[in-house]
Amino acid sequence: KRVVVFISGGGSNMMALVAAAKAGDFPAEIVGVISDKADAGGLAKAAAQGIPTFAFVRKDFASKEAHEEAIFAALDQLSPDILCLAGYMRLLSGTFIQRYEGRMINIHPSLLPLFPGLHTHQRAIDAGMRIAGCTVHFVTEGMDEGPVIGQAAVPVLSSDTADCLAARVLTVEHQLYPQALRLFAQGKVKMEGGKAVSTDAA
Ligand code: GRF
Repeated sequence: KRVVVFISGGGSNMMALVAAAKAGDFPAEIVGVISDKADAGGLAKAAAQGIPTFAFVRKDFASKEAHEEAIFAALDQLSPDILCLAGYMRLLSGTFIQRYEGRMINIHPSLLPLFPGLHTHQRAIDAGMRIAGCTVHFVTEGMDEGPVIGQAAVPVLSSDTADCLAARVLTVEHQLYPQALRLFAQGKVKMEGGKAVSTDAA
């Protein structure tokens, strides 16, 4: 399966997917990395791996539609089977989501449906949570509310700050995302009727 990864920042999740895809038995290859930030640190990391990279900066386009049209043109060239959002900090239009629904997944740093949106770690601490974690889910129209493919949990320690909880969660993100992509690329999970359903795919 051909995978394009979308990033806005350092791309540590993207690099975890790149590393996993190097295994001979991994059912996907990362064929491109797209960012909405020209200075996203992950672009240089991907390029150093020989992966084609593209930056589409919103302010260079007259509208959100034009911005997305440029992304679609790059995607048409890359012909991905799967899109992986990995720290992509931009909401996609309904047009974009409809074009890729069922083929686009995202990693979010909370145990959805708890704490959709931003500042998830501080909110978990403020709520007195004793566990926190991350979720890989199919991307649907609503933000951070698509069917869940997988989750990973970590303890919240009484001494935790948002930063150290974020670091603990990021560690398991890097394990969860490759596992979730493997399952999806193998066809062992798919989105059907608005739900993530397991298949008995070989
Ligand atoms: C991760 O915490 C991810 O869950 C969230 O943004 C961060 C991205 O980090 N969406 P990176 O760019 O993958 O290092």
